[in-house]
Amino acid sequence: MLSATVTVDPAFVVGPVRRRTFGSFVEHLGRCVYTGIHDPGHPTADSDGFRGDVLELTRELGVSTVRYPGGNFVSGYRWEDGIGPAEQRPRRLDLAWHSTEPNQVGVDEFMRWAARAGVEPMMAVNLGTRGVAEALDLLEYCNVPGGTEMSERRRANGAPEPYRVTMWCLGNEMDGPWQIGHKTAHEYGRLAAETARAMRMVDPDVELVVCGSSNSRMPTFGAWEHTVLTEAYEHVDHVSAHAYYYEEDGDLSSFLASAVDMDRFIESVAATADAVRAAGKHTKRIHVSFDEWNVWYQQRAESRPPSGDDWPVAPVLLEDRYNVADAVVVGNLLVSLLRHTDRVHAASLAQLVNVIAPIMTEPGGRIWKQTIFHPFALTSRFARGEVLRVAVDSPVHDTAKFGDVAALDAVATHDAETGDVVVFATNRSVTDEVALDVDLRGFPGMRLVEALTLANPDHTWSATVDDDTSVVPRTNASAKVADDRAHADLPPVSWSVMRLTRA
Ligand code: AHR
Repeated sequence: MLSATVTVDPAFVVGPVRRRTFGSFVEHLGRCVYTGIHDPGHPTADSDGFRGDVLELTRELGVSTVRYPGGNFVSGYRWEDGIGPAEQRPRRLDLAWHSTEPNQVGVDEFMRWAARAGVEPMMAVNLGTRGVAEALDLLEYCNVPGGTEMSERRRANGAPEPYRVTMWCLGNEMDGPWQIGHKTAHEYGRLAAETARAMRMVDPDVELVVCGSSNSRMPTFGAWEHTVLTEAYEHVDHVSAHAYYYEEDGDLSSFLASAVDMDRFIESVAATADAVRAAGKHTKRIHVSFDEWNVWYQQRAESRPPSGDDWPVAPVLLEDRYNVADAVVVGNLLVSLLRHTDRVHAASLAQLVNVIAPIMTEPGGRIWKQTIFHPFALTSRFARGEVLRVAVDSPVHDTAKFGDVAALDAVATHDAETGDVVVFATNRSVTDEVALDVDLRGFPGMRLVEALTLANPDHTWSATVDDDTSVVPRTNASAKVADDRAHADLPPVSWSVMRLTRA
């Protein structure tokens, strides 16, 4: 057995736990919207056709913010198609996913869904096929109280009060050659700056996310952020980061260390933003919106869009099935996001339902939780107060992709009001148990509330519609606290949460 120590101290604060770290994403893609959140024939559907069981699990997942309507989809989207009487809305080709978009859900429906789910909407505007004018129209529709063309249309469509959406993404992955309306960094930077400047004239309270690279392996990664921010720095608040190349490709050890990659990614984007800040003599800082992240098996057949004359509505797409190791990685990626809470001010697990998702549905039928549901829900529920910078003393092992990697990775949060301290820990060893000691001398007299561990002798176990409860986080019976030290034995390939409070 390996041994590791984590030292926590109330003096070492990274920053607040931000609720927006626990965002998710609903795109018009595959079955995320249709037969996902929206399924009018479903027994739990409400008057808008929204599934009650999906709303319930969304709340249980602890999602804070939901990004909408895409994704690649948004770069060809005409938002006006999705408003007004549903029977009069056009059906359109969705070029991003080679599907047919029936436009039965649009901005008004989404806002009603978000209100019922208790989540903050985060909208994206189309800067692929469209530009400043259409972004302004959508903002006016959403945020202006009334008395103008667009705001009166919203009122006529049943929403007398403005939606007052704060978070807006200026397009999506505009660096990607797959993106409809793909642009060079300079072209996009100018467009983003002008769109942002005009949007602030309509509503000075918006928070704007400019597109960073669609992943850190793009040949333009770094240079893209530098050019775009050089153009748009003063007009935006966040730069986006997206990462999906976390998948088990036969090298479990490297896969379990995926958070090392996310750490480096965040730090590189922050460093680039700070370089632009220095060169431009700006005073404010740009934050990272990690608004698409997850494990995704992109080479599997279910990630391939239809082709030819086949333009289905809501095809089965990107319906990855997640196993225990995937959930351990997701838990560890949340550790990475939390420990960067000084720079990461928003994040979105992509996506929410059916499409690389923690929640799965049968059309008209049952609902079930994937393994990745659990670390997300527990982290969202128990991370409160401030994130602490912890000292981790752990054995390291060699990985093919990241070199030496600590077997034990952890972060802690401290809620000064309740006195609660929560440690989130991942054992990234494929073979060895880790005996974890938490040095609590900075928090004398704590007691254990509970310790939960997600692990399974077969880390390839996946939930199904028939069984999503055999492997869930369970009480870790080895956990105890004595003499200002907490202890727990963590099995290989595991994710744990240890909750402590004042005795
Ligand atoms: O989430 C799936 C897709 O991944 C999104 O549409 C796109 O933004 C990203 O490449």
